[in-house]
This record gives sequence, C-alpha cells and structure tokens, in this order.
Amino acid sequence: MIDRAKILVVDDTPASLKLLSDILKAEGYKVRAAINGELALHSAIINPPKLVLLDICMPEMDGFEVCRRLKAQPETRDIPVIFVSAVADTNEKVQGFELGAVDFVTKPYQREELLARVHTHLEVDRLRNDLKDLYEDLKRVQAQLLQQDKMASIGQLAAGVAHEINNPVGFVSSNLGVMRRYIDNLFKLLDVYDASEDNLPEQTRAAITGLKQAIDLAFLRADMPNLLTESMDGLQRIKHIVQNLKDFSHVSESDKQWANLELGLDSALNMAQNEFKYKVDVIKEYAGIPEIECLPSQLNQVFMNLLINADQAIKDHGEIRIATRSDADSVQIAISDTGCGIPPENLKRIFDPFFTTKDVGKGTGLGLAITYDIVVNKHGGRIDVKSEVGVGTTFTIVLPIKREQKPQDAQTGSVAKFS
Ligand SMILES: Nc1ncnc2c1ncn2[C@@H]1O[C@H](COP(=O)(O)OP(=O)(O)OP(=O)(O)O)[C@@H](O)[C@H]1O
Ligand SMILES: [Mg+2]
Repeated sequence: MIDRAKILVVDDTPASLKLLSDILKAEGYKVRAAINGELALHSAIINPPKLVLLDICMPEMDGFEVCRRLKAQPETRDIPVIFVSAVADTNEKVQGFELGAVDFVTKPYQREELLARVHTHLEVDRLRNDLKDLYEDLKRVQAQLLQQDKMASIGQLAAGVAHEINNPVGFVSSNLGVMRRYIDNLFKLLDVYDASEDNLPEQTRAAITGLKQAIDLAFLRADMPNLLTESMDGLQRIKHIVQNLKDFSHVSESDKQWANLELGLDSALNMAQNEFKYKVDVIKEYAGIPEIECLPSQLNQVFMNLLINADQAIKDHGEIRIATRSDADSVQIAISDTGCGIPPENLKRIFDPFFTTKDVGKGTGLGLAITYDIVVNKHGGRIDVKSEVGVGTTFTIVLPIKREQKPQDAQTGSVAKFS
C-alpha cells in the first residue's frame, strides 16, 4: 500500500528533481514533480499526495513559503512535508520544523537514508490515519451504545406507563360514551318540560325563565355536545400515545418472515396518502429489491413514521421521493422530502424518545425512536440522515437481507455492523 503512495517532489533544479524522482520511482512510488512553488501548491490541491519532498532555496517562492501555504489549507494541512536542502543551518531547520515539516534531509543525501526517511514518515502518517479512523469508530459505537441504553430504560418506563394509563383511559372513555346517552335523555326530558311550561302558574314560569337566562341554557345545550366530542378526541389522542409507547416497548414480538419491502412501502403510502392530500407529489423509484427476512409489520410502521414526518416537514407544497436499491447482502430504502430540513444542532437528538419540535398534540417525539429501535436493534440495520435547512431531508435505511444473529444478540449485532 505504502509502496504505491503518491509523492510530490519539488525542486527548481531539473537535475535534482530528476535524480530524486528516479530514486523514488525505482522503489515503486508514484512520483509527481513540480519545478516551482506555485506548481507544487496547485498540484497538491488538485490531487493531494501522501508526502511532499520540498527544496528550500527556490526563486519566487521558497520552500518555507510553500510549506506555510500547504499548512494553511485544510485539504493539504495534514500531508507530511520533508525538506530536502543543502541548507544545513540549524536556524533554518528549526524554522522548517516550526512550519510543520516532519523531517529534514540534507543534500547531498544518501539514497538509503532518503528512502528510509520517506518510508518512515509514510508509515507514521498511515498509522496516524488508522488511529483517527479507529477513534471515529469508537466515538460512533459509544454514541450508539448510549442511545441503546437510553432506549432500553425508556422502553421499560414506557411499557409501565402505557399499562398504567390504559386502565383509567379505558373507563373514562366508556363513561363518556354512557354520559353522552344520559345527557341526550335529559335533554329530551327538558324538551317535554319546555312544552308544558305554558300550563304552569305565572310565578313558577317567571322563576324558570329567570334561571334559564342565568345559566344561559341555550348556550349550554349547544356547547354540551362539543365538550363531549372534544373530550373524546382528547382520549383518542391519549390512546394513540399509549399505543405508540406500547409499540416502542414492543410487547408484541412476532417471528421474522421473508417479505417484499416495496409492497410494504406501497401499503404505508396508501395509508399516508390521506394525510398527503394535494400537498405532496410522490415519486417512486423502485429498483425491484429482493425479499428480506424481517418483521414486516414493524417495518411498515417505520415507513409510516418516515412518510408522515416527511409530510409534516412540507409546508405548502413539495415532493416526497421513495427510492429502493440493493446489493449482495443488503437493501436500501431512501425517503427524501423537500421540507423544512433539520438544523444541525437537532440532528443528534431526533432519535431521542420524546424529542419533538412539533406543537403539543401534533407530535409525541416517539416516531423516530421507534424507527431506530426497529431498524437497528431488531433488524441489525442502519439509518443515515442527510438534511439541509430549507432544502430537505433524506432518511436512508439499510437492512441486511438475511439476519444471522438471533434476536437476543441484536444489540451487539447492530454495533458490530454500524460502520
Ligand atoms: N423529514 C423531516 N424533516 C424535518 N424534520 C424532521 C423530519 N423527520 C423528523 N424531523 C424532526 O425530528 C423530530 C422527531 O421526529 P419524531 O418522528 O421522532 O417525532 P415527531 O414527528 O415530532 O412526533 P411523532 O412521530 O411521535 O408524532 C421532529 O419533531 C422533527 O423536528
Ligand atoms: Mg414523527
């Protein structure tokens, strides 16, 4: 790998340039040569090399300046620079190191020494990059473990709360139904009294009329059914939240089946279409993906959650694109919208249970938490999000075609696969 690394060699003397290039080429390195600083910078930016060998004394732009500029650009900052120069003055060497060079080779150099230094610095750079990658992986796995932990404890809490709330909600809702009938009956009775009012003595009639006005009977009669309907709606909403909580803690676990997710997407689309109305144009780009081993109804719920989020992100009119793809061992489903987008500071939190930016009553903040749990924990899959405020959002779900791990291994499985 290292032997084929690209090295940029910079020297204003053609003979030195050729000598250096030939030594490196003979060792199998790919060499690019630049005859002055300007060309070197240009070349380094267009196609960053793995290492730069840099002469110091050059007309117009000297090696120090080239180094300074390389270190000032994010694209070239991390490329190791070795100065190759006849200048052996300690001050100049110090200046070179201060500018960020990794080494110094003094001309005339010995071929073996030069090659040894080049090799060493390429190796150091490779190890540094490996370390950086490992660190990134570690950070990601850690974040995911944290997320799973949070989900597990909130899942337990949710199951408990859902169970506790279900009971009172059940009897309040049935009581309200009965109350509506009782009230209808009472109003019927009131109508009969009303009709016979003329037969009552003058004094009683006046008292009744006074009371009717005091309690604003006309308004009361009109408002009563509204109050009942509103209360019923409220209960309906609570039931919906409880259902979500139950789904979230997935009390109902079923067996994996082979299923065609494009059919699942279509059925979720059919259900969501009611919400979409004329606001959204739906574009389907199905690739004809193979069946996968999964929990189909749960994945349908995932699709619903994503479609409804996409719809809710679109204010006036927009587009939802559903694209599927597959490779040898996984399928991908991307759901994109042209909605409001997610600000970077929220991106970290959207999978947290109860994180919502929606109005009270509109969102519980559980949709994506459930989605994450189903995709990552139950299917060993992955969710990627790309979003730009004001442009739109794409959620991409990647699911393995066949699930090797048993369900109880789900947690480790998903961590291992997350990369
Ligand atoms: N497609 C999207 N575009 C813009 N923001 C989104 C999108 N999907 C999710 N979000 C953001 O992530 C938050 C969390 O989403 P999530 O689905 O978990 O909860 P919710 O939609 O607010 O409520 P619920 O799904 O429980 O009804 C949303 O409130 C929203 O801010
Ligand atoms: Mg949602």
